[in-house]
Amino acid sequence: KNVHHYSFVLKETNFTRLCTTKSMFTVNGQWPGPTISVRKGDTAFVNVHNDGNYGVTIHWHGVKQPRNPWSDGPENITQCPIQPGKNFTYEVIFSDEEGTLWWHAHSDWSRATIHGAIVILPENGTSYPFATPYAEEVLILAEWFNGDVMELIENATATGADPQISDAYAINGQPGFPNNCSNETTYRFPVQYGKTYLLRVVHAGMNEEMFFGIAKHNLTVVAQDAAYIKPITTDYVMMTPGQTMDILLTADQDPSYYYIAATPFVDADVPYDSTNTSAILQYAGNYTPPSSPPYPSLPNVTDRDAADNFTSRIRALASNEHPINVPTEIDTQIFIAVSVNEIFCPNESCGGPNGNRLAASLNNISFLTPTIDILQAYYRNLTNVFTKDFPNEPLYAFNYTGDVGNNTLYPSLGTNVTMIDYGAAVEIVFQGTNVQTPENHPMHLHGFSFYLVGTGYGNFNETTSPQTYNLVDPPEVNTIGVPKNGWATIRFIANNPGVWFMHCHLERHASWGMATVIIVKNGPTNDTSVLPILSENLPICS
Ligand code: C2O
Ligand code: CU
Repeated sequence: KNVHHYSFVLKETNFTRLCTTKSMFTVNGQWPGPTISVRKGDTAFVNVHNDGNYGVTIHWHGVKQPRNPWSDGPENITQCPIQPGKNFTYEVIFSDEEGTLWWHAHSDWSRATIHGAIVILPENGTSYPFATPYAEEVLILAEWFNGDVMELIENATATGADPQISDAYAINGQPGFPNNCSNETTYRFPVQYGKTYLLRVVHAGMNEEMFFGIAKHNLTVVAQDAAYIKPITTDYVMMTPGQTMDILLTADQDPSYYYIAATPFVDADVPYDSTNTSAILQYAGNYTPPSSPPYPSLPNVTDRDAADNFTSRIRALASNEHPINVPTEIDTQIFIAVSVNEIFCPNESCGGPNGNRLAASLNNISFLTPTIDILQAYYRNLTNVFTKDFPNEPLYAFNYTGDVGNNTLYPSLGTNVTMIDYGAAVEIVFQGTNVQTPENHPMHLHGFSFYLVGTGYGNFNETTSPQTYNLVDPPEVNTIGVPKNGWATIRFIANNPGVWFMHCHLERHASWGMATVIIVKNGPTNDTSVLPILSENLPICS
């Protein structure tokens, strides 16, 4: 196992896209930021020096960080922000992840510009469960905002209205054709005829699920969230913010230019960025570049069937080399209703629906981020930071897909966490609701990957829904789409003691409080199940 060292300098940097120049917060002046490249089981030390104007933290999305929540990153959950002028060194401990993950800032909306890929190669002496590709390419989907993202979320919070939508999507930092002022700078991915490439696609976007495809080329998806799946050959994929996919691409078409594109998937009555982003797949050789290269035909923005047809095909590889370990008996079951809500504004009227403020909740509780991080509060037994009483079912029962009453429209506010015994087999059923605006929710859990054992539309049914569970080869992931007006069930073993954030990876929902925390208690044995003492100097809460 190897140890790697990276240096991240956070600083304001000028970027021009869509003919608009702005200063934005970056790592090392790059957008997307640098790729972290390791082998399975390695450790990376990342020294983060903040030369910017405000405090920020970094999270290693999908890295389980065994017994190491101290370096997980979410602001005021496991640490306080690294203040301007200060340093903090994260210890990123890789265990069984293999494939592609990513890192991003975890403070307000700073992740819009502070993110990058994590590439985890097989251990020395082992290889991919497919023929070794000729070369690899990281493709990062993101959103570009002409304005300052921190101002944008502050304005939205102040008015209680929907935050502004992005002005463009981007592939590797470039909106590309057909966006304003973007044709010349469209990202190019050079390939050679007959070769096979491994694309490591990261969805780092803020608020929109997306379809992704390459004109005239098949995609073969081989991994999701750094776990191998049974290969799926398709002409498009659907990805939610937070997800990563490893995709084999064979350059088997006439040498020419072909567009790579991503378009939004939004089947909900919400404002969204309706633009497309593209890059160019550019074959080597002597030919006249086409004046209008073929553009992939991706599903329509509301095409739920297309999205479901793709996601329903995903199965874990579940081979001898890459076995799965899904719990069949459950110790702890948690039922979580997932809603977008409204909160009354105290005095004047707000900019949200009915003059209210938009909010979001899990089990009718809109998460309040504390001012001292929950991990320190837990470790030091501080009171008044959080309560250990997150309900394991909704406070109010209702028909999740039907009309709802006021008691579910207006959540309470709190910092309520779930305490789980070390080693427990945990099942969480997420139930989408029809409160305010029904839509998909990509739920993400820190500290674990989990098995998506089932999903369906309508109300979860205690008798019939579990009969549909896949306990043979369910995908092992860190982010799942809870379908609009539907449910999703995940399972995992709580073998990682510590404080772990769980939230919707649509940033506007997370900002509104669609989040909670799971604390896995210490187990009996010091070297495997007990949270070690904090040796590094975590940033101090001011
Ligand atoms: Cu991708 Cu809580 O994060
Ligand atoms: Cu959501």
